[in-house]
Amino acid sequence: MAARAGRPLTRGTPMARRKLIYEGKAKILYEGPEPGTFVQYFKDDATAYNAEKKAVIEGKGVLNNRLSEFFMNGLASIGIPTHFIKRLNMREQLIRQVEIIPLEVIVRNVAAGSMAKRMGMEEGAPLPRPIVEFSYKDDALGDPLVPEEYIIAFGWASQQDLDDIVSIALRVNDFMSGVMHGVGIKLIDFKIEVGRVWDNDFQRLIVADEISPDSCRLWDIETGQKLDKDVFRKDLGSLSDAYTEVARRLGVLPSNVTHAPTKPTLIN
Ligand code: TMP
Repeated sequence: MAARAGRPLTRGTPMARRKLIYEGKAKILYEGPEPGTFVQYFKDDATAYNAEKKAVIEGKGVLNNRLSEFFMNGLASIGIPTHFIKRLNMREQLIRQVEIIPLEVIVRNVAAGSMAKRMGMEEGAPLPRPIVEFSYKDDALGDPLVPEEYIIAFGWASQQDLDDIVSIALRVNDFMSGVMHGVGIKLIDFKIEVGRVWDNDFQRLIVADEISPDSCRLWDIETGQKLDKDVFRKDLGSLSDAYTEVARRLGVLPSNVTHAPTKPTLIN
């Protein structure tokens, strides 16, 4: 509905005036206030199986905005650079513009998901050590697993880049595993994306996109309960409750919330 003359626009409308850069399945990127920045907006949309399954989960975007802020700030505090600059409001964060390397960088501590299926392993089987793997980011192809040879031959990244990406991914894994362990959650696996930024002629690789229960597998250590997007993929209950529980344990929700509310309540 158009705003009447002289009447302030409602909270939802000012974004319409911003330049849309890209709309993905769970997020939208808008032009940022300064060159070299974007505003990343977290939607409530949930998708699975390459968007064959879709739903709107009220409050998911608000939780993921908070959780991604929490993890990105944590990574920065131990010296891992990320694209995150600051949270702007409930659903938006200011981020640094990067050139995304078209790979899903996946780290696995325990067999699950596509690895368990591909290798005929039982979900939950421990792995001898963390395994880093790469998928090519292409929805039409279903994000296929690719060997390093493809990545280098097709020019998506150099061998040096890949060595740096593996090192970053394993450091993120150590950090995330420790943080989650501290709140009684086992980090089974996760996905990050990595982007390039240039400081004059010097290229750096930094963590980009988001880190949230949308892109991790998180199991309660005691009960094995799933607290991640598998709840939605496999119809295991309320996704909103699962994400709220993760946020509550990490202290991203007020401490007086002792149960998962039907709608997330967040501290400002
Ligand atoms: P997978 O078992 O389906 O390959 O997923 C491994 C982890 O990576 C899991 O935590 C989900 C995450 N992931 C994404 O977030 N987005 C993706 O496109 C893919 C392929 C995986």
